[in-house]
Amino acid sequence: MNVPLLDLAAQYRSLKDEVLPALQALFESQVFIMGPAVAQLEAKVAELSRARHGVGCASGTDALLLPLNALDLKPGDEVITSPFTFFATAGAIHNAGGTPVFVDIDAASFNIDPAAVEAAITPRTRAILPVHLYGQMAAMERLLPVAKRHGLPVLEDACQAIGARRRVDGTWRMAGELGWVTAYSFFPSKNLGGWGDGGMMVTSDDQTAERLRRLRLHGGAKQYHHDEVGTNSRLDTLQATVLLAKLPHLAAWSAKRREHAAYYTKALAGLAAVRTPPVEAGNEHIFHQYTLRVERRDELQAHLKAKQIGCAVYYPIPLHLQHCFAHLGYKAGRLPVSEQAAHEVLSLPVYPELTDDQLDYVCETIRGFYR
Ligand SMILES: Cc1ncc(COP(=O)(O)O)c(C=O)c1O
Repeated sequence: MNVPLLDLAAQYRSLKDEVLPALQALFESQVFIMGPAVAQLEAKVAELSRARHGVGCASGTDALLLPLNALDLKPGDEVITSPFTFFATAGAIHNAGGTPVFVDIDAASFNIDPAAVEAAITPRTRAILPVHLYGQMAAMERLLPVAKRHGLPVLEDACQAIGARRRVDGTWRMAGELGWVTAYSFFPSKNLGGWGDGGMMVTSDDQTAERLRRLRLHGGAKQYHHDEVGTNSRLDTLQATVLLAKLPHLAAWSAKRREHAAYYTKALAGLAAVRTPPVEAGNEHIFHQYTLRVERRDELQAHLKAKQIGCAVYYPIPLHLQHCFAHLGYKAGRLPVSEQAAHEVLSLPVYPELTDDQLDYVCETIRGFYR
């Protein structure tokens, strides 16, 4: 049996009758730049996030970079973030002129440890950048008070967590609802993925929304009038059209992912060499990834691949140990929880279209490996 890590073609087959007519209409209109689909998607994603504004942009990377640019970082200004994330999180801090300050993660959730964040705050700290990794929100109920005490904005990297929610002080709060700005990615493999690159920022701060809209269009609210230097980072109308057609399915897809995750967790319980991902209490995880911690990880990965099961390591090298950040002076051993995770994690297929037979085959193959 073949179980790919992701099967976008299966999703395409189930959706093409909805998406293709919408694209056909766009082609007839030829309004490719900032067409009506962009504003419609912005409104819907803002609503989903319970935020006042959505501002589309070219990628999740830019959805982090533009708000960081809006902070007007000076050399030496620091942004505290997780080392256990996709590179873009820290790359954006660097490209905005800041210095990423990496602090360790919580071993169970893989998300940034709020106590470590507070301990890392210095007079040069300008923002806190938590990542809602794999689709589970970081501990916002602990991060927000830290940010408030120190007067720092929180930029949420929700590139993997659109539609996730968490109970904060007894109330369900959406990813994107509580931070200063939140970044989403519509990379094709995401729970809500386009047919190419795309991203969005959401915020409830009116002035920030206006600034982000300027920054994505060469810094000018009015054509040919440039208040500051921005860039070209629009959300492609073609992508917005695809995403608008897909958005009504997002909740059901994420529910299916949760179902698959629960299935794996139950089926793999009792294997001493495997730790399934705990969902923290008061979280609605969207399982962008279903990620185990396992013994003999690389051998298991090779075994699964030989049995035609897709799997992947997100992420093999924590960012504080990346060559490009060597000048920051982190050495191996400095952030041990992240480093251990990098040695142990393995993500399994969890896309909505997986069948029970495929799930059983994955579980049986893992059990067979450790027998
Ligand atoms: C956590 C995280 N941050 C940022 C990004 C960057 O998004 P994009 O690939 O759309 O630029 C991604 C996705 O790839 C991501 O997973």
